[in-house]
Amino acid sequence: MAPKVTVPQVRSHKRARGAEPLVMLTAYDTPGARIADAAGVDMILVGDSLANVVLGHADTLQVDVGVMAHHVAAVARAKPRALVIGDLPWLSYHVSVEDTIRNGATLVRAGAQAVKLEGGRSRVPMIEALVATEIPVVGHLGLTPQSVHTMGGYKVQARQAAAADTLVDDAKAITAAGCFAIVLEGVPDVVAARVTAEVDVPTIGIGAGGGCDGQVLVFHDLLGLGEGPVPKFVRRYADLASLAVGAISEWAADVRSGTFPSDAETYHQPPEPGPGGP
Ligand code: KIV
Repeated sequence: MAPKVTVPQVRSHKRARGAEPLVMLTAYDTPGARIADAAGVDMILVGDSLANVVLGHADTLQVDVGVMAHHVAAVARAKPRALVIGDLPWLSYHVSVEDTIRNGATLVRAGAQAVKLEGGRSRVPMIEALVATEIPVVGHLGLTPQSVHTMGGYKVQARQAAAADTLVDDAKAITAAGCFAIVLEGVPDVVAARVTAEVDVPTIGIGAGGGCDGQVLVFHDLLGLGEGPVPKFVRRYADLASLAVGAISEWAADVRSGTFPSDAETYHQPPEPGPGGP
């Protein structure tokens, strides 16, 4: 069995040093984690996107640390080779350093090897506190879904030069605070490439072009398990929802026609011992 992916391995993984791109996928439960791990991903992110793609909410603000821990534990039970990263949900790292440490520890005790949080230099005290408590941290900059109301919707960020400069400064600040990787979401490719060149930890892009040190996608988007249109950065590799509807429709038709269950799918009573038998 291949050895577990570790935080130090990820931290030093830069394409500029000849490494191949890192692969991160979200997963939210044991079968999803087994599938992602069998496919050989490097990192599994138990993202708060589970609010949208698993729980049917309109935004990620609806899940708390208890919900996240429940799903981190389910992923950890798959014992993946991939590094498991638990997403700190909205309000779990905004109130106080003590609160942040407690919530980070909850995800670690549920089975995460690291946590992820959104935001730039304003998060530095929280990142430093987590790192000092031996909880490795992934940053997340650009289109940060927990800021949906502040951003006025899910919009590509850092399109203007000043905002791009701010994003680069934020990336440097959270790297200096101790982040071992940074997710860059919904930013122009040149901005992501600039961040990638200017920080010495890997950048993991989603809607950030091909210049990052790795890529991440949401499980349900990649496999066609979601509903409605997907952003342009999603490449759909399967249409599992259609396959599942087809399979369940076939079973329903078999039930209605009486061909399910068959004799082979049925338990039978053992024959009664005859008179004088054992
Ligand atoms: O919650 C999530 O799935 C994420 C990824 C989109 C990076 O944060």
